[in-house]
Amino acid sequence: MARKIEFMDTTLRDAHQSLLATRMKTSEMVPVLEEMDEVGYRAFEMWGGATFDSCMRYLDEDPWERLKTIRKKVKNTKLQMLLRGQNILGYSNYPDDVLELFIKKAIEDGIDVIRVFDALNDPRNLQKSIEIAKKYGAHVQGAISYTTSPVHTVEKYMEFAKSLVDMGVDSICIKDMAGLLTAPMAYEMVKELKKRFSLPVELHSHFTTGLADAAYYAAIEAGADIVDTATSALAYGTSQPAVEPFATMLKDTKELKVELDMKKISMINKHFVKVRENHKDTDVSLKGIDTRVLEAQVPGGMLSNLVSQLKSQNALSRYDDVMKEMPRVRKELGYPPLVTPTSQVVGVQAVLNVLSGERYKIITNETKKYVKGMYGKPPAPIDPDVMKRVLGDEKPITVRPADLLEPALDKLREEIGVLAQSEEDLLSYAIFPQVAKKFLEKKYVARIKVDFDIVDENEKEFPDVTVYPAS
Ligand code: CO
Repeated sequence: MARKIEFMDTTLRDAHQSLLATRMKTSEMVPVLEEMDEVGYRAFEMWGGATFDSCMRYLDEDPWERLKTIRKKVKNTKLQMLLRGQNILGYSNYPDDVLELFIKKAIEDGIDVIRVFDALNDPRNLQKSIEIAKKYGAHVQGAISYTTSPVHTVEKYMEFAKSLVDMGVDSICIKDMAGLLTAPMAYEMVKELKKRFSLPVELHSHFTTGLADAAYYAAIEAGADIVDTATSALAYGTSQPAVEPFATMLKDTKELKVELDMKKISMINKHFVKVRENHKDTDVSLKGIDTRVLEAQVPGGMLSNLVSQLKSQNALSRYDDVMKEMPRVRKELGYPPLVTPTSQVVGVQAVLNVLSGERYKIITNETKKYVKGMYGKPPAPIDPDVMKRVLGDEKPITVRPADLLEPALDKLREEIGVLAQSEEDLLSYAIFPQVAKKFLEKKYVARIKVDFDIVDENEKEFPDVTVYPAS
């Protein structure tokens, strides 16, 4: 009997995060959600990653409302989010009480599948998220952050996978954010995972270097169950492979079965062609593929961020220097996989090392925290000279980083006061205090004004109350 291969569609999250700087609006998703729901995808990745921050920071949208809106329209397909383990959706660790409330609300508001990863593959940073997500009934997918380095061997990855399985994950994902996974490696990794654990295996890659399609096919031959793709209008480049050609290819085999409505996909794709047109100003300028990534190991979203960062400092001419500096910094920092937040730590430090004219002349807070061990344990020891330069006589920590954090919800609740009209508002504030505060002020204070004007149009003075309950 033919084996069914399933597809996870990333159009609503990773695809536009990687290609359009995460600017797709909920209103650009809604018109095709019901159609998408009928295609036969295993899940939609539509939340988490950078979308939460971007909603509030750039789009003036409540990320929780996006989740609820999509849930209302999508009745059959599972909704999936990307969770950065103890970092939730932010850039450093949060206390366990914030993490628990966050996962609980995300599941209550509609999330079915939580893909959880840690930038350093440090099991201590995943343990709580996995435990909590299971407690509230989600399907928990443990992700292996894939990278290449002298210390990253298949055996090391399998040890990490074992710790995921021991913590109780329901499936395993190889998360190749930079598109570094070659077909032979994909085959070997999946073969080993399937041999050792009886769990579904999913492959997530980016087309950045041009390797992904072949890697997916090899992974499927080795027994992978699910691959991550995007609709072709938002595929390739720094995004995922496109679903249309890949599904067509699999349909030509006797051993494999694909159950996707290709006609529907093509209609949906027309819509996203238009959506992409709407975002020309943030569209990544990468044409085709970037093979320099094979050397510098820069993941999808990071390339576009780097370009805009250098542009804003009038230093685009230093792009090549920064791309050369990045692998050096990465090596000195113990070969972290480059994914949020380690991609930012390495990226920003590399930019500073180049632009300031002297390496480690300026050291960011994030670099300091990283070297101190606050992000977890790096895959290899940190270069002793860099360690000395960054920490001086201080010693790195050895405990689970979040163990050093006090519960924070009570304090946060007090701080934000009536501006948080729901647990969701409180969580937005807990994760992104400044961005969320601005957002909530706009959301509620603007609403009072409107409401007040309607109630009494002669009253010109701003009312005493500062907020008006959400409708
Ligand atoms: Co990705």
